[in-house]
Amino acid sequence: MRLTEDQKMIQELARNFAEAELAPIAAQIDQEERIPKEIIEKMAEIGFTGLNVPEEYGGSGLDTVCKVLIIQELAKHCASTAEVISVHTLANWIFIHYGNEEQKKKYLTAAVEGKIGAFALTEPGAGSDASAAKTKAIADGDDYVINGNKCFISNMGPNEGDYVVVIALTQPELGTKGMSAIVVDRNTPGFTIGKREEKMGIRGADISELIFEDCRVPKTNLIGKEGEGFKIAMQALDHGRIGMAAQALGIADAAIEASIKYMGERVQFGKPIGKLQGLQWYLADMGTRQEAARALVMEAAQAADDGEPLSKLAAMCKYCASESGVWIVNKALQIHGGYGYMRDYPIERMYRDARIVPIYEGTSEIQKVVISREMMK
Ligand code: CAA
Repeated sequence: MRLTEDQKMIQELARNFAEAELAPIAAQIDQEERIPKEIIEKMAEIGFTGLNVPEEYGGSGLDTVCKVLIIQELAKHCASTAEVISVHTLANWIFIHYGNEEQKKKYLTAAVEGKIGAFALTEPGAGSDASAAKTKAIADGDDYVINGNKCFISNMGPNEGDYVVVIALTQPELGTKGMSAIVVDRNTPGFTIGKREEKMGIRGADISELIFEDCRVPKTNLIGKEGEGFKIAMQALDHGRIGMAAQALGIADAAIEASIKYMGERVQFGKPIGKLQGLQWYLADMGTRQEAARALVMEAAQAADDGEPLSKLAAMCKYCASESGVWIVNKALQIHGGYGYMRDYPIERMYRDARIVPIYEGTSEIQKVVISREMMK
């Protein structure tokens, strides 16, 4: 897909930001397991926390293609930061498409200013089977009283997270048709952020458990209608999966670039290892898989912008880019040999970061369920 001049400008803005602000501290972010607050502030200043927020709420009003370009550039240098923006953009999407005017004014404006949103669907007993979620939000007068536990929730933890869209049962007897989307602010009594997970990769990003114990929120916190929560979650995930695919592309781009550089520098058997045909073939396979994945991600992004049916393409692009991303980074590590395994080279971090993408926002196996169901419709 050919980019427009505007899209190229956004890509360059993201590239310049990532090279100047993320590249120098990406290893530190990984080691210290936190993204400095200033990074979020700077991303708010250049319009990235409000990237998909309409201009009337102060946002950048960018399309999905631009979202992909931004997340890709961020992920090239810091997958943790890319993950925060991708999930935050998913939360924005819910307010943009289902929020009422008051909610849009409050949460979209906050997003633009650099407040970070989260999305809570997963529970200890409801991962791939999202329909098994048990968290309840029972009506009581003008309030909902929320009880339950969410786990593996991105963008909520000691460093990040100002509000979270929680998918909870308002009418438990109706199953997925009784689920609703309710926004909960960080400091609401009865809402506690539990254990921050110690992760293999994307270590800079907060992923935590959320505990709701008689957490009371006004009914005005309902997003959309009662009973729409599961549909909202599935549609939001269709869009979110394109963001995660972009994250995989960015990590793989960085791994390919690092491999080309290393193949030119590293001398074995009296010549740069780039002269060895076996490694040239690795590189050719890496590049070909990457460009095939990129074409599919861009196709899905364009479909999202054109308002076309998205589930199948979003699942395909996430499945393809995340699996090829892992494959590419693995080969890149192999090209780097022993050095690739050491922390002195960023390949080791890329390998750990890439590994989450075929898991979160729906495993590859779930993407294949979605794809085949859509194909058989
Ligand atoms: N858009 C709109 N509606 C949808 C939909 C979509 N993409 N997908 C399903 N629905 C609707 C269906 O039409 C159906 O409604 P009707 O009964 O009215 O027809 C209803 O939702 C139930 O759908 P299914 O019968 O297909 O539901 P299911 O139980 O078979 O599950 C699933 C479908 C695809 C497996 C789903 O459970 C799923 O996507 N699982 C993976 C969950 C996931 O991605 N979790 C990640 C959480 S976020 C995260 O990873 C952390 C992070 O923050 C990064």
